[in-house]
Amino acid sequence: MKYLIKGGKPLCGSVEISGAKNAAVAIIPACLMVDGVCRIENVPMISDVTMLLRILREMGGIVRMVNKNTVDIDCRPITRPAAEFDMMRQIRASYYLIGAMLARFGSARVVMPGGCNFGGTRPIDQHVKGFSALGARVELGNDMVVAEARSGRLHGANIYLDVVSVGATVNVMLAASMAVGTTVIENAAKEPHIVDLANFLNSCGADIRGAGTNVIKVRGVKRLEGGSYAIIPDQIEAGTYMAAVAGCGGEVLIQNVIPRHLECISGKLREMGVEVENLGDAVRVTRDGPLGRANIKTLPYPGFPTDMQPQLSTVLAVANGTSVVSEGVWETRYKYVDELRRMGARIQVEGRIAIIEGVRRLSGATIRAYDLRAGAAMVIAGLIAEGTTTVEGVSYIERGYEDIVLKLRGLGADIISVTEDDPKESLRSAM
Ligand code: UD1
Repeated sequence: MKYLIKGGKPLCGSVEISGAKNAAVAIIPACLMVDGVCRIENVPMISDVTMLLRILREMGGIVRMVNKNTVDIDCRPITRPAAEFDMMRQIRASYYLIGAMLARFGSARVVMPGGCNFGGTRPIDQHVKGFSALGARVELGNDMVVAEARSGRLHGANIYLDVVSVGATVNVMLAASMAVGTTVIENAAKEPHIVDLANFLNSCGADIRGAGTNVIKVRGVKRLEGGSYAIIPDQIEAGTYMAAVAGCGGEVLIQNVIPRHLECISGKLREMGVEVENLGDAVRVTRDGPLGRANIKTLPYPGFPTDMQPQLSTVLAVANGTSVVSEGVWETRYKYVDELRRMGARIQVEGRIAIIEGVRRLSGATIRAYDLRAGAAMVIAGLIAEGTTTVEGVSYIERGYEDIVLKLRGLGADIISVTEDDPKESLRSAM
């Protein structure tokens, strides 16, 4: 698939934000630990989620869609702590199955994760450190992780994470939830999806305190029971639409959000001359004047999210003046810059720093999505640019954005999704 975008139009209207991808991809594997049926609501229907649901099904779980965004998951029939399917290489969050399997079965065999590659490495040493501290032996093969609790069950421990890692915090929290005794995770990540996972597990009977701070205390319990849980709105999806309005101009009501989670993004946009009005469970974003420059440094939550860096950098490419962006989480995350340059952007990259000299306009071009958020940035670039932009490689984008074409069309954008080979035959106008 690819997207064809005719840019240069302001965005107007309202858009409904879906459930948070990064919470969903932690909560769905966590259902493996539950002795009962989990009804999960506000599940974003994106390919990362459908893939995880397929994995649970392949493992023997019962997965039933109640409606488009609600699913019942019953993992009681699963008897083997193994997930060795090829499709798992395509999704990074499949490694949360390791923590969940260790918790429930005391052992795990899981195919090594794939997912977005930002151009650098994505180590899992802190996950391994956490599992080992809980008493597991962990072997990393070429494309497999095999882990086993040395004494049959995991035991609580004090774990200091050397880097603030979302993935390691999630995985250790999962594994520790059913360990014998208490675990303390220090230097934990504080992202909203960490809190959401803790809330879900607690709603099933877990005993987790401090999620959202840098010290999380997990008292292991013997059993988790089923129930209903609604996933929080997606901070990054909301931020992406906010950035799109900033870039294109216009006025959009962004609904089903938690404005507190958006403060780091709203603050930056205000600095750039964009109006962001907090309306409780919605924000109204308006830009009718010139766009100002800004500097950005990405940091773990509550800092400016790295997952918004490509989208905001794209907007800064057409701001007045020179902006400096510093990537503080990943070694490098600027692969998309070459695509923007082909549209007329002036951006220099030196290691973790990008210097963006704002230009008056971008011009339509054929560009490629190299990862999920860079892909979203390419869509924003296409919406801003004059002329027609073709965005290729959109399967990355559809890993994390529910109905993006439909939602943008609802805001007046001229965007359609077509198959790569035969645009005329299979024009899939998303109306
Ligand atoms: C999660 C998000 C991703 C986001 C990232 C940072 C999900 C599914 N994905 O990814 O979208 O960009 O958080 O907000 O939630 N690190 C280590 N050793 C480890 C683990 C991580 O050195 O064992 C380093 C990484 O190289 C990186 C930093 O820690 O520099 C942060 O990574 P981490 O928070 O773990 O990212 P993910 O959980 O993979």
